[in-house]
Amino acid sequence: MIEYRTLRVALLGAGSVGSQVAAQLLGRADELASRAGAGIELAGIAVRDVDAPRDADLPRELFTADPEELILSSDIVVELIGGIEPARTLILKALGSGADVVTANKALLAAHGPELFAAAEQVGAQLHYEAAVAGAIPIIRPLRDSLAGDRVQRILGIVNGTTNYILDEMHTKGLGLEEALAVATDLGYAEADPTADIEGHDAAAKAAILAGLAFHTTVPLESVHCEGITGVTAAQIESAKQAGYVVKLLAICEQLESGVSARVHPALVPATHPLASVHGANNAVFVQAEAAGDLMFYGAGAGGIQTASAVLGDIVSVARRHVAGGPGVAESTASAVGIAPFGSIQTRYQISLEVDDRPGVLAAVAGVFSEQGVSVETVLQSSAASAATLVIVTHLAPESALAGTVEALRSNDVVRDVASVLRVEGL
Ligand code: NDP
Ligand code: HSE
Repeated sequence: MIEYRTLRVALLGAGSVGSQVAAQLLGRADELASRAGAGIELAGIAVRDVDAPRDADLPRELFTADPEELILSSDIVVELIGGIEPARTLILKALGSGADVVTANKALLAAHGPELFAAAEQVGAQLHYEAAVAGAIPIIRPLRDSLAGDRVQRILGIVNGTTNYILDEMHTKGLGLEEALAVATDLGYAEADPTADIEGHDAAAKAAILAGLAFHTTVPLESVHCEGITGVTAAQIESAKQAGYVVKLLAICEQLESGVSARVHPALVPATHPLASVHGANNAVFVQAEAAGDLMFYGAGAGGIQTASAVLGDIVSVARRHVAGGPGVAESTASAVGIAPFGSIQTRYQISLEVDDRPGVLAAVAGVFSEQGVSVETVLQSSAASAATLVIVTHLAPESALAGTVEALRSNDVVRDVASVLRVEGL
């Protein structure tokens, strides 16, 4: 029998994800040791309430309310608390004590990534975070390692399971947003405060992480343009369906001439695009790279056991480096590109207008587009009584010109209402 050196793991948090990680570390210790080349001992689990019921059957004696003492006696610290504090302070303490760290905390990485990576680099420790973006899907390692020799041009991602679940239920079953959110919360997909999901903040944090990795730079969270799904209506979903589109909340990261851009907003995606068939709480990240071409990473983006898979992969990987020795690999942030102003990104709009049904109206509407330098690709008109509905899809144009067009339409006399404005992506 092989004798392994044993590494002590401190688990911080035993909620949806942490309890599953703990159960796997305890139940599959021999298998994980043989993969890591080191014994992986769950030394303790720090939580807020040591007596709270858990999703998995875990030994009571492992629980503690004192994370600091546990951290100081561990080789690997796994942070699954979430949020900024105390997670940030505990991770810095762990790195400061020379421990390697695994985290799934995108909110913390997006807000304080540079500080945490610098702390890891200073002591030669590793900071792994595969579960922070798109749950179980391997996307961090592909971007950081597998594509390190290529040039990523664009990423289109469905990176929030809760909102994809909600939009999919609205699209396929006609459910309301609140009803679908309640189910997503029960299933453990939503954040402790689901506002972060439905307002797009969770996806924005993931977009900042993906853009930084893909373009070898640091993308501040404040620079990510963010719109959630609270304004998406049943009428928009229905008319998208009829026009051959699906509404998805997309995280879009691009390398433009004006710099790097990361944005999150609902968008119309053609029903034929691979992202349109991503259902339920699944996530998918569509990567366009110069040499590799189009790649798609698909799977479970949330859920306790699914996310635990990515966390365990990081633990095994960190343990292997412990055995091999040597410092952890620092993040690649050498690129000097700046952040592109949001107005400079190129996109398409679908605009639905309620207008008077009389001569000259179409010409007046066309004039507004022309004045803003926006080219129209398609116009669809349907009429009822004295009113008409125009559904206009533009060609690619700068965001600032498209937003200017909508503003000008709103104040034009022939336009009764700008009923819907959605960007169109993936054409
Ligand atoms: P939960 O809210 O289910 O669990 C959080 C855990 O942290 C609980 O066990 C809680 O203790 C513990 N905790 C909270 N505050 C403290 C504190 N001050 N000191 C010690 N322990 C504390 O979170 P999740 O498991 O859902 O998420 C964990 C992380 O994983 C987050 O960063 C999240 O964004 C990320 N993630 C989650 C996914 C998911 O599907 N759920 C998917 C991908 C990433 P107690 O139980 O005693 O209250
Ligand atoms: N709340 C997140 C989601 C969990 O719904 O995708 C995964 O990060």
